[in-house]
Amino acid sequence: MAASFRSPHTELIHVLQSACSGELAAGYAYRGHWKSVPPGAIRDRIQRIEGEEWHHRRAVQGLLGKLGSGPSKTREAGFWLIGKTIGMLCHVGGRFIPMYGAGRLESANITEYERAAVLAREAGYDDMIDCLLTMAEVEWEHERFFREQIAEHWMFRILPMWIAPPPKHTIRSSYTEAQPIGDRQGTAEAATPNF
Ligand SMILES: [Fe+2]
Ligand SMILES: [Fe+2]
Repeated sequence: MAASFRSPHTELIHVLQSACSGELAAGYAYRGHWKSVPPGAIRDRIQRIEGEEWHHRRAVQGLLGKLGSGPSKTREAGFWLIGKTIGMLCHVGGRFIPMYGAGRLESANITEYERAAVLAREAGYDDMIDCLLTMAEVEWEHERFFREQIAEHWMFRILPMWIAPPPKHTIRSSYTEAQPIGDRQGTAEAATPNF
């Protein structure tokens, strides 16, 4: 079957719907996560991260509204369940797995918002770009926090550590150099859904 082509506008909606549902799952997963951690700085930081994910979700909902769209009901239902399930499992899964899963997924979040920013430019929504890149930068901070929590863990003798993202400032600098999505079909589809 021939590959279907979606306009930047349609693709941007698709990416933001994915991000919106991912933020829903993230919010509930981190709520369970921080409640499973003893009181202290780490628990407080994860609780703040939960708040930042809800903030992202509201921002993404606003962007979808500007695009004449909204969240995908099917996707929202699925990710609501995923978030609630992960949030409960954090209470029985020990310290390492929730940190590891969160770090890997936050790494994917960075690239998803970077991709959305490129699509916004291509679709003519320049006013969305700063918001999207700012969310990518916040996801960068999340990734670094979770990676630092487990960087010395013995489990990394067994499990592969995900590739650390490039320095935070490159989110802005590489965006300005980014090729149009249409010129790099294939890599675009490889982006992982937000969480
Ligand atoms: Fe987020
Ligand atoms: Fe995040």
